[in-house]
Amino acid sequence: MNGAQDKLKVLFASAEAAPWAKVGGLGDVAAALPAALIGTAGSALDIRLILPFHAEIKRKNPTLGYLGAFSVPNQTGVFSAELYVASLHGITTYLLDSELTNHNSPVYYGDPALDGRKYAAFSVALLEAARFLDWQPDILHANDWHTALAVYALKTLYQQDSFFKETRSLMAIHNLPFNGYGSEFAMTELGFTPGTYEDLPDWARLTPLPLGIAAADQIVTVSPQYAREIQTRDFGCGLHEYLEKHHNKLIGILNGIDTRLWDPAADPYIPFPFTAADTNGKTLNKAALQRELHLEENPDIPLLTVVSRLDHQKGFGLLFDAIPDNARKPWQLVLLGTGSQDLEARAEDLMRQYPQKIVSLLRYDEAMAHKLYAAGDLFVMPSLYEPCGLSQMIAMRYGNIPVARATGGLQDSIINYHKAPDEATGFLFTEKTPEGLVSSLNSAILTFQEKETWAKLMNNAMNKDFSWKSSAQNYWSIYQEIKSKRE
Ligand code: ADP
Ligand code: GLC
Repeated sequence: MNGAQDKLKVLFASAEAAPWAKVGGLGDVAAALPAALIGTAGSALDIRLILPFHAEIKRKNPTLGYLGAFSVPNQTGVFSAELYVASLHGITTYLLDSELTNHNSPVYYGDPALDGRKYAAFSVALLEAARFLDWQPDILHANDWHTALAVYALKTLYQQDSFFKETRSLMAIHNLPFNGYGSEFAMTELGFTPGTYEDLPDWARLTPLPLGIAAADQIVTVSPQYAREIQTRDFGCGLHEYLEKHHNKLIGILNGIDTRLWDPAADPYIPFPFTAADTNGKTLNKAALQRELHLEENPDIPLLTVVSRLDHQKGFGLLFDAIPDNARKPWQLVLLGTGSQDLEARAEDLMRQYPQKIVSLLRYDEAMAHKLYAAGDLFVMPSLYEPCGLSQMIAMRYGNIPVARATGGLQDSIINYHKAPDEATGFLFTEKTPEGLVSSLNSAILTFQEKETWAKLMNNAMNKDFSWKSSAQNYWSIYQEIKSKRE
């Protein structure tokens, strides 16, 4: 596999890629995984990324080349699209603009019909972009509902198209409940007809993610535990029966983090670098943050931190419910997040009620996120479900010990102090109740006071390998398997 002809060609399609467009972990994954795959496969792989040319990317104004315009078929004729090329972490990255993906749109409108229109059009246009480039992908690696219709299109609208005859598909599920429901009108406009997969429930026949799942040659989700969970009624979002029946084409691969970007020893956002061997800088970062946010500057008060989308998924209701009854205990909380109005309002109220101990920063702020990971003692992540979760891995790398619910990737990436104190990297609890969280937080806070035990926990967490290395190897094997299925 050396000549350019023999390279495996992968088109990696995503709605987000950090730092150009990032709402959550999908942005981190799309920015890091293709580069990690090149690290693994070297010249045997030609992987290219394609993103919608969101307004946010335009504002950041990356260095671009204009490649040209092309037409995309739809029910009423054609719509036009334009393609630009740039480099993101050394990966060839295409930015696709079109009248239907809407030149100046936000990453997500938050309106199902508008998002449906943007991403249904993007999904078809990205296939036409490959044709325009005369670059036949061996594998389309689609991510979440936003690009799932490209997978479905390969098996329907493009089934007879000789250009895509050899293209196989991988559907990555980062978050099953977000399935693109509301895209029916846009899909019909583009010429899609309802899916005829008999194992899919009726509601799924014009819904992007289930159609991508059913059409894909391989389904990957972002942790082994979440792969098991989505085969159950509680987590399967109505697709558990389908996923259980087709478990042979489903695998869970734990995400990694970009360990160069998230490195306490060389992080330009944090004032005092530190390492597992010398955590003095961490103490200084904590003091600096306490000062900056007008909290009592005291190393002995455990500093609880949150960096998250404020979404029902993340379980912050449990944390907010628990605060009034535990307000007398010594702790401080700094929360950085944006999201649902009701959770933002509760976070703001709590800061008003307990100004000495709670700071709610309701915004997206990359620099502050780094400072919180670095300064925090405890990282609170009571997720009701968590396909993988990157924040807890970042936190551990900065010696910020997670207190999290035992679900999905949290269960796969955190070694629980209650089960294996010697190797532990955090605290896990199972109950979906404020009491469950409080009991786990209480033992974490007690342990925080035992200096030696805490130092060991920090050392374990900071020395864990959360890099993409082994996961990229798994993806590379899967790519080769999918390709060989064809031959
Ligand atoms: P999800 O993808 O469900 O949002 P993850 O844990 O996989 O959760 O990834 C979240 C990513 O988004 C992390 O990189 C985290 O640091 C970042 N993040 C979340 N909220 C914010 C915020 N308000 N400001 C800066 N970064 C944030
Ligand atoms: C999703 C999930 C999160 C995961 C991320 C990246 O947004 O909520 O658990 O880490 O995707 O795969």
